[in-house]
Amino acid sequence: MIDESAWDLVRLRRDSFVRGIEYHDVLGSTNDRAIELIAGESVDTPFLVLADKQTAGRGRGSNAWWSADGALTFSVIIDVVAHGLAAERWPLVSLATGLAVCDALMETVPAASPKLKWPNDVFLNDRKMSGLLVEVPGARTGQMVIGIGINVNNSLSMAPEELTRTATSLIDAAGMRHDRTELLLKVLEHLDTSLAMLAVDGRRLVERWRTFSLLTGRTVLLRVGAEEVLGDCHGVDDEGGLLLQTPSGMRRFSSGVVVRFD
Ligand code: BTN
Repeated sequence: MIDESAWDLVRLRRDSFVRGIEYHDVLGSTNDRAIELIAGESVDTPFLVLADKQTAGRGRGSNAWWSADGALTFSVIIDVVAHGLAAERWPLVSLATGLAVCDALMETVPAASPKLKWPNDVFLNDRKMSGLLVEVPGARTGQMVIGIGINVNNSLSMAPEELTRTATSLIDAAGMRHDRTELLLKVLEHLDTSLAMLAVDGRRLVERWRTFSLLTGRTVLLRVGAEEVLGDCHGVDDEGGLLLQTPSGMRRFSSGVVVRFD
């Protein structure tokens, strides 16, 4: 039986690339706290903000991020200069992060086949199990917040009804509890690797991302501002843009919300 309350902060500090950790039993949002830290005195990056339980998690746009006891919710503050990430690579950080989560999940559950739904959702068995929120609160300071939420030991049977049909967790998919410190260490290890890959070879990173693409070959309905576009997904281009074959030809999107896919 895994002791849910036992975060191994010593191991996290010793065995990961983070140089500082702030741990909270309960916190509104780890991204909000990371942004607060950046606005205040200087932080020694990479810096981890970890919450055992998040009460006001944020998703993309105005979405909320549901989590319950047993979820893994954290943010990492990185210094883009120290990571060698030129501004044109920043839009690919969320792709690099999704890749890191997939790599960590495959190591944790070798039978699992995680997929990436553009731009930054991680799916298992066609259901969302992890969401990523990358924010750059102070482009001037060069600090970026990488927020990651993974449904681990929080069964979706406890979630609001609309989520029970579309989301999943590791315990629901794999049928057993997992040690969150262990999984976090793996995500951090792969995040370090994929950010390094992004710094030196963005194309290679995108090539790896494509091998996990959930939408490629599927019909996608994309909302971009007030426009809705229906098209067959041809994956992502080297800059991470979504390619849709539409009735008016091939179109590329650098942002948008996937409303539906068949
Ligand atoms: C999404 O799916 O739209 C993104 C969800 C991101 C959730 C994570 S949980 C940790 C971090 N703190 C937040 O408030 N959000 C991110």
